[in-house]
Amino acid sequence: MEFPALHQKVNDAPLVYFDHAATAQKPRKVIDAMTRYYEFDNANVHRGVHHLSQRATRAYEEARMKTVRFIGAEDPSEVIFTSGTTASINLVAQSWGSAHLQAGDEVLVTGLEHHANLVPWQMICTRTGAHLKIVPVNDLGEVSTESVAQMLHSKTRIFAFSWISNALGTINPAHEWVRLAHEKGITTLIDAAQVVAHQPIDVHNLGVDFLCFSAHKMMGPTGVGVLYGKKSILETLEPVVGGGDMIDEVTYEKSTWADLPYRLEAGTPNIAGVIGLSAAIDFLESIGWSNIERRESELLQYALLKLGSIPQIRFIGQPNNRAGVISFVVDGVHPYDLGTLLDEQGIALRTGHHCAQPLMHHFGISGTCRVSLALYNTLEEIDQLEKALIRALRLMGKVQAQ
Ligand SMILES: Cc1ncc(COP(=O)(O)O)c(C=O)c1O
Repeated sequence: MEFPALHQKVNDAPLVYFDHAATAQKPRKVIDAMTRYYEFDNANVHRGVHHLSQRATRAYEEARMKTVRFIGAEDPSEVIFTSGTTASINLVAQSWGSAHLQAGDEVLVTGLEHHANLVPWQMICTRTGAHLKIVPVNDLGEVSTESVAQMLHSKTRIFAFSWISNALGTINPAHEWVRLAHEKGITTLIDAAQVVAHQPIDVHNLGVDFLCFSAHKMMGPTGVGVLYGKKSILETLEPVVGGGDMIDEVTYEKSTWADLPYRLEAGTPNIAGVIGLSAAIDFLESIGWSNIERRESELLQYALLKLGSIPQIRFIGQPNNRAGVISFVVDGVHPYDLGTLLDEQGIALRTGHHCAQPLMHHFGISGTCRVSLALYNTLEEIDQLEKALIRALRLMGKVQAQ
């Protein structure tokens, strides 16, 4: 029972979980690591001389070192623990944005963004008078590098983009886009929320200035994530949250800040969550990236074949370079209704706008059904999905009863 939650029945059918992109199921090792912390080591970090506090602090800082290695960072001060991708992007938008954006400047994002990489930029643009610019998406659900190159210009201060789209699965050429932006002296941020569980990340090789991800998308716990930033840039950031743990000295008149990374981690952190993140890294590495990539690619090709063989299904986005995410609609059927009929057969997939409303508007729809795949899925589950879909379509009168 490596993934305990997967071993259950839903509506009298064995659960088939295709909602990995929203949140991944957790392996036993992650659950055990967090339980062990609460059962034996529970104490606050960085504050106590007592044994438990030292053990908790050691586990917390070891997790940071592991994360540094996991993403190819150079120094523990480059890894800030946050509550997730959303918090990481907001931190950059608020702190870096307040210092670097002024009226007339431009912030560039793509038309593929999750709201987490859109709304924080809207907020800081409203405050500073900067303009938010969007690189358009084509009908395949791709953003062309030519368009990116054209829209990166002297007014652009930061280019923030998702490496993999959660809504369509499009994989963007992150290395090339970072290089193009840096050639023009533009700061870069990568939303890697959909990347961490699926392929290795090497921030050094990417050269990116900021990179954000959430533990729960990589089989770790909810409520914890990472902001990676180049040390030279993080050192210039003013904290946006003040309180315990982030200070050097406090008087009633003023306070001075602790060194990185603590300066940007005010308050008691999500200690159990960070320990769970560390266990999730161990889990992914124990399987190995080549195994993960091979398995997910096999699942994706099979799912595209099976879903593509159902004539009523219309794919939304057909990117040439795609991760294990497939969005589709059936014309005349609300995604929610289809999702409910699949749930009745034990199949969990996501329906709705996937926190990408502007992208849905681009395709002239309010939402899609989304299948997202992970290494714990099987080819048999995809066969079950195909059967369940045909059954649901028959119930809705979209397929002739035989
Ligand atoms: C591409 C992308 N960015 C950002 C987020 C936000 O992540 P979180 O809700 O963990 O902060 C998600 C979550 O679905 C996502 O898929």
